[in-house]
Amino acid sequence: MKKILLATTAVMAVAALGLTGCASDGGGRGGETGGESASGFAADSLIGVALPDKTSENWVLAGGLFEDGLAEAGFEGDVQYAGASNAVADQQQQISTMVTNGAKVIIIGAKDGAQLGTQVAEARDAGAVVIAYDRLILNSDAVDYYVAFDNFKVGQLQGQALLDGLAAKFPDKTSYNVELFSGSSDDANAPVFFEGAMDILQPKIDDGTLVVVSGQTDIKQTATDGWKPENAQKRMDTIMQGSYQGTTVDGVLSPNDTLARAIITSVTDAGQADLPIVTGQDSEAASIPLIMSGQQYSTIYKDTRELVATAIEMAQDLQKGDEPATTTETDNGNVEVPTLYLEPVIVTKENAAEAYANNPELLALTK
Ligand code: BGC
Repeated sequence: MKKILLATTAVMAVAALGLTGCASDGGGRGGETGGESASGFAADSLIGVALPDKTSENWVLAGGLFEDGLAEAGFEGDVQYAGASNAVADQQQQISTMVTNGAKVIIIGAKDGAQLGTQVAEARDAGAVVIAYDRLILNSDAVDYYVAFDNFKVGQLQGQALLDGLAAKFPDKTSYNVELFSGSSDDANAPVFFEGAMDILQPKIDDGTLVVVSGQTDIKQTATDGWKPENAQKRMDTIMQGSYQGTTVDGVLSPNDTLARAIITSVTDAGQADLPIVTGQDSEAASIPLIMSGQQYSTIYKDTRELVATAIEMAQDLQKGDEPATTTETDNGNVEVPTLYLEPVIVTKENAAEAYANNPELLALTK
């Protein structure tokens, strides 16, 4: 908790400085990677971006933003997505090819954060700097930087939104029937979101305010393989059939918007007319209208434009031979990775217009 607060304060400090010249004491290891970043590298160097399969809108957006942003910065960009089938092997291959092609920085949104050890070691050996993007790369000392929205904070905001939504919708109830969903077990973010949410929800489960009628509270039970909506919908169908005959579900912790919509479909299909409070994440175009009409309670705004721009700024710093700004460190099971966390924003119907004020496309969806 303390670390999170420190990180939050630091993020604000960096934001105030306009993200310039504020390297942490811990510093990155960019300077140690073959001595490259001490003197920088050519301004038109190859920068590789390896993204996972398109499990949510943010990943689709990121690809285009990286292509445009890297070109604008004068780099040669190579943006690749792992294919939907065989995604892990695909991504491993794509990263190896980027190393072979002489990429100076490789920005990676991992498909499976635990399966890239060999590839990032290859990158380190070749003198390329590895930046983990949005998802941490685990169990390797060859990860130089991590840039993401604070994932634990995302989970806490989701947990708090669920409680707030329940209290507002059911002012007369003293206990609520809820169900819990988490993300894909191969995504390093999934347990962090869930732990953040449970940090808020567990005390309320313990004191009986929240009743998980299915009894499924373990992350192994709540996980959604591949972040696939059909898997969430199937699990919710089974829960509705098994645990909600003759009673209603009041709230559902959903880790993102894609799964939230699948869960809402399942509850509707099961014949429950009054929809539960359902959380989300990503501010997807398909979910914002549902939030405005009261079908989905909340989402999280993680501005992809800001995350991509920050990753590109890191590459620009490295190009100049400067140390990218970081605000904290994140343990990846092997080393403390110098990390820059951005602040996620909780969005409900009440603050949507304000939250999306800087984003005309999202703002238009609130009207
Ligand atoms: C991202 C979320 C996204 C999920 C599924 C996570 O790693 O942080 O924003 O909803 O992947 O794509």
